[in-house]
Amino acid sequence: MSHLDENRAAWNRLADSGSQFATVATDDECREPLKTLDSRNWLPASVHGLDVLCLASGGGWQSILYAVAGARVTVVDLSSSMLALDRRESARRGLNVRTIEASMDDLSMLGDQTFDIVHQPVSTCYVPSIAKVYAEIARVLRDDGLYISQHKQPTSLQVTRRDAQNKYVVGIEYYIEGPLPTAPDDSYREANATEYLHRWDNLVGDLCRAGFVIEDLREPLRADYSAPVGHFRYRGRFTPPYVRLKARRVSRTPGSDPPTANKIWTP
Ligand SMILES: C[S@@+](CC[C@H](N)C(=O)[O-])C[C@H]1O[C@@H](n2cnc3c(N)ncnc32)[C@H](O)[C@@H]1O
Repeated sequence: MSHLDENRAAWNRLADSGSQFATVATDDECREPLKTLDSRNWLPASVHGLDVLCLASGGGWQSILYAVAGARVTVVDLSSSMLALDRRESARRGLNVRTIEASMDDLSMLGDQTFDIVHQPVSTCYVPSIAKVYAEIARVLRDDGLYISQHKQPTSLQVTRRDAQNKYVVGIEYYIEGPLPTAPDDSYREANATEYLHRWDNLVGDLCRAGFVIEDLREPLRADYSAPVGHFRYRGRFTPPYVRLKARRVSRTPGSDPPTANKIWTP
């Protein structure tokens, strides 16, 4: 079985069994959709009329919130069960959401420069080459388009177990190529999924080399000092599991100003 077949099956199972990652947006969350999506104020004040690609974000959360906020939404995801939630929820709410079953590293069904925003939750760990994903996103984004993404941090993926002193063991080499082996501590891994470690050189360097500038970088806090030993939030005290990036597509127009961090974005 290829990594795509394995991950499709794993995510179909997760969606069909009601995983926390397959939870549709609630009425409460839809009241202020942009605040729900973006506690860090990375999005423009309005996304009304913008073309938004929710990449590898089936499950009826991101797509519904962007659509409620007035964006024209396309969701690309590998899992038919995850996409079924987007279709079910958008139909129930009378929203228009386009769903496409495909892998994030081949977006050939989407035209060049057709999106203003690409929003990608944690998912690049499921493909071997993050550079291919970034190249596709750079192609489909318009000049100055926004790319918001979250990824698994490499050190967290290197952790394999907890030792007798309740410290965490970095049991997988940083320069590993190919799928990650299974590990006794799989708190930040999905059951039966095939995952890959992307080094910082890839997570950040490949992004810059694909034609983006990084405007912000955050590490979502998963440490909880009241969590019992062994809990995933106890583990979060030792190594942050995720990194969130705000990046902007550099303009292709020769001679135009490069985007700057404090530029006010007017789509
Ligand atoms: C953590 S879930 C993200 C969805 C969820 N709405 C969220 O907010 O967390 C990761 C998603 O990546 C998808 N996925 C895995 N491999 C993929 C691939 N190669 N191409 C596109 N999507 C993929 C899964 O089907 C799953 O829906």
